[in-house]
Formats: sequence, structure tokens, C-alpha cells
Amino acid sequence: MCGIVGYFGPKNGAKIIQEGLAKLSYRGYDSWGIAAKTGETLTIYKQTGDIERGEKLELPSTRVIGHTRWATHGSVTVANAHPHTNESGTIAVVHNGIIENYALLREALIDEDYLFKSQTDTEVIPHLIDYYMKRGQTFAESFSRTLSDLKGSYAILALHADGTLAFARKGSPLCIGIADGEYFISSDIPSFLAHTKNVIHLEDGDSGILDTELTITNYGKPAHRIATPVPWDITIARLGNHKHFMIKEIEEQQRTIPAALNQEHALIEQAVRLIKQTPNLVLAGCGTSYNTCAAAAAHFIAAGKHATPVIGSEFDSAAPLLSEKTLLIAVSQSGETADVLDAVKTAREKGARVIALTNVPSSSLARASDLVIPLGTGPELCVLATKTCTAQLAILTLLALKSAGKDTGTLTQAAASVRAVLEEGKKHAKKLAEQFKDATSLFVLGRGHLRALASEAALKIKEVTYIHAEGIAAGELKHGSIALIEEGTPVIVFGNNETRDLITSNAMEVRARGAIVLGIDSERSPAYDYHIPIPELGEAGQLLQILPVQLLAYELALARGCNPDKPRNLAKSVTVR
Ligand code: M6R
Repeated sequence: MCGIVGYFGPKNGAKIIQEGLAKLSYRGYDSWGIAAKTGETLTIYKQTGDIERGEKLELPSTRVIGHTRWATHGSVTVANAHPHTNESGTIAVVHNGIIENYALLREALIDEDYLFKSQTDTEVIPHLIDYYMKRGQTFAESFSRTLSDLKGSYAILALHADGTLAFARKGSPLCIGIADGEYFISSDIPSFLAHTKNVIHLEDGDSGILDTELTITNYGKPAHRIATPVPWDITIARLGNHKHFMIKEIEEQQRTIPAALNQEHALIEQAVRLIKQTPNLVLAGCGTSYNTCAAAAAHFIAAGKHATPVIGSEFDSAAPLLSEKTLLIAVSQSGETADVLDAVKTAREKGARVIALTNVPSSSLARASDLVIPLGTGPELCVLATKTCTAQLAILTLLALKSAGKDTGTLTQAAASVRAVLEEGKKHAKKLAEQFKDATSLFVLGRGHLRALASEAALKIKEVTYIHAEGIAAGELKHGSIALIEEGTPVIVFGNNETRDLITSNAMEVRARGAIVLGIDSERSPAYDYHIPIPELGEAGQLLQILPVQLLAYELALARGCNPDKPRNLAKSVTVR
């Protein structure tokens, strides 16, 4: 939800910030803006729309901050786009997060004759800094005093016309990339990966100043933070020969699924020990991460382990069942999803242990957990979770099989089959997309652990194509949803040896009512109009079954003229409740 980035160094900062914002636009892309020190003043430029379609700015400046927005307070207008400034335009601020007490602060500032130009919560920040500066404090002191007035979550950059840059983080991610005499302060690493891999991961409560040197404090006390190299390759953040990150990341699964399974032995053993010890295993996540929790819970339960999947935003309903004996597996690609962080907090208050599964080992989630299992896919820039979805499924299935003492060979076989299944999926995806592109509704049916996969498949299709899509437990069909099946309704069926007989009947039922049925299954059933074969691999088969649906979602998006990387209304990282 919003991305911010700042540059402090000798080069053309406006160009660097524009390129950096483009890499952060997965966090929000309804408007963008920059503030650059030009001479003795700040030049502000703001625009609605996606930065990648915005004009390239010619602004010679070595001190620049920028923002790409996902609207929360106030609609998508130039006035609401960041940066926001004080009245004289000497202080500019960009912000990711929510200032919960902004209404009170705004009223108090209006009483002091401050004029507001936007409906945002952020605009109180430059005015507050201005307020304290007018009472004799320096920019740095005023920034720090302002922070103590704010309630809520934030990552903030404030640029003064004298070129001083102030920053702070509390509850929203912020890191500093350091190169030779250059600093990049940003919500996420891909925005500066082309310039440096040397990164300081700021802690909650950290704030600081960049003028002649970099100073960092934590809640007012001096803090010593060390830059460490990130093992990411710059090509991961580039499109290369691909048209979109979505298809690039789908194809990367040939590498990322085996990598996710290739975890440090001791780490997996430790996680398995904790799982075996707990009588109450809870798995929590949101969106795709919830779907993978639900699929994994089915594996744990099948192996006789009590396991409950909980949607992050509904975690309070599970709270009465938590105790110090509970083990929470918190799953989040970004590690910054507010509802998952809240779930961890609740679990911790009850004395539970927490294992984090995340793609960002420096994330807030990782820091709040006892054990961190990295997804290891490298940055995922498309808003849709594809390679991180299968990395989660791979690791959770590995944990389920290992803690049940089962053989994990099927997972290795699945990893080795990714390329072939992608190739097979590609043969069908374009043709099917042409056939399904005008559908108004689409259904995905599964049974057992494939029910959760059906929800994931439907999520993938709806978020990128805007076709209404539902994942249904196939047995539930006759209890309502079958009323929506009509001539030509596409229905995807996930089958395997265990469920084929029953799911074939369900497929027959929808086909009898005019549905066009695509079976993704190890065997062809007479109920399938189209069939994409995948190897029969039991629990591990789901890693492969989702791949053709990801490809279909991509082709459907193209066929319907939708941008696969930036679906409307969505942001990749949901840091507000
Ligand atoms: O970063 P997280 O895994 O916590 O994100 C959770 C969801 O916001 C995310 O999976 C979302 O549903 C994706 N758009 C799915 O493709």
C-alpha cells in the first residue's frame, strides 16, 4: 500500500527516483509524485495514473523523494497524491501507512490557521514539522517532535529545501541502500537494486537524518545499524524478454519450486520438531497465503494432526483457542500484511510459538517470529502471487509430510515436472482464453486438499481478469451454486486418483447444464471437454495443478485487455486493516 523512495547522493536523483518508483508500483499505482531540491527551493511534480506511463522528468537534483500511491484517505486526484508540503513549500513529505489520529491533528492545525489542500492523513505531517520549526526548533528536532505526535503506522520521508532528508519507520517497511557516497531510502529493495545490494533494514521506531552524514536513532536513542548484502540478482527485478512480470514469474517456478524445497536441513528439522510437539497447530494468512494454509491444513489433518487454517483478518475468532501450547505458522509473501502481523501479536500474547513463512526475511513478520522459513523466490513484482504461492505450497507440504514421517519423494518429482507442465499448460492456455474470454462467471471445483486449491485458482482468475470466479468444494455445488451454471459457463475441475470418481459425477452434473469443463487431472475423465494432464503425485500434485490455471489467468487477462501486473484496485502488500 504505497511505495516511497528517496535519493541522497551526487547523481541525477529525479531519474533514479522515477525508475525506483516504477519498481515499487506493485505497492500502488493510482498516482505518483516527487519532490526535488532545485536550487534553494523544492520542485513538486504530481500526476494521477501509473508512473510507467508518466512523462520522464528533466530535473537536475541530487536530493529527491518520491511516492507511488494506493488511495486510502481521499480519492485519486493530483491534490491527494504525495508529496504533501507545508504552505511555503519548504518541507515535502511522502508517507506509507495510516496516521490514525490525523483528524484531531488536522483540527488543531486548522485552529492555528494552517490550510489543507488534500483529504489525506499525510498532510498533517509537513504542517506539524513547519509548526515546530516556527517555534524555533531545527528541522531534525521538529521531525522528531512530529513523530511523537503521530499515532498509527508509517514509513515517512521528509525533505527540507536545504537538502536535509529525514526518515522514520513504525509498522511500515523502510530500508536504506548504501553505495559509494549515495543513499537510497525505500519501502523495498527492488527500487534501488540497480545501484546497490548493500542494505540496512530499519527496525520499528528507527528514525534518522541524512545531511553531512547518516544518523539513526531508535525511539530517540542512538542506534547502530549495519548494512548487509542482499543475495538478489538485478535480473530478477527486470522484465528481460518477457512482456509482463506475471508470465516471467510463472516461468521462474521451474527454479523457485526446487529452491523452496531445498531448505537448510536443520531449519526444517527444527520446524518439524515444533509441529510434532504442539497439540494445536494454527495456520494463518490472507488471500493466496490463506489458500496455501488451508491446503496445508488438509495435509496435516489427513496425517492425523490437529490443524486449523485461519484467515488473518478473522484471527480474533481463533484467539480463545490459543495457549502457550499453540504453534502458529504465519504465512505472508511480503511479511508486512497488517492482519497477519496482528494475528502474530495475538498469538504471542497467548504465549504461542510462531513460525514465519515469508519471502522477505527482513520483514516485520520475520522479526516477530521464533523461526523464519524463507520462500527464497526473489522479489515477486506482479501483484498476483504465483511463484510465492507454489513456494508456500511446497514448503508447507514438505512440513506436513515430514512431520507425519511420510516420504517426500513426490515433492521432488513435482519439482522436476514443473517445466513439462508449464509447456503443456501453454499449449492450451491461449486457446482456452479465447473460448472463455466473454464469460461472466467461472467456477473451479475441488475435493479434499484440492478444494483450497480451487479457491486459489478462482482468486487468480478473478483478480486479473475481473471475471466473477468462485472456488467451490465440489460436493457443495448442488447446495446452491449449480443454479448459476448455464450454457457455456467455464468450469475448471481439479481431480486426482483419490477424488476422481466423485468429482467426475460433479463434472457431469455441470456439463449436463451446459458448462464447458476443463479437467486438470492425472487422468482424462469422460466428463472433461478439455484435459490438461499432470503427473499423479498425491499431496504434491497441487504444486503442478495450479500452474495451468496461472497461465490461463494470464492469457485471459490479455484477451480481455487487462494489465496482468497491475489489476485494478489492488496493491501487493496490504499494510492496512
Ligand atoms: O504478502 P502476503 O502474502 O501477506 O499477501 C496476502 C495477499 O494480499 C495476497 O496473497 C493477495 O491475495 C494476492 N493478490 C494474491 O494473488
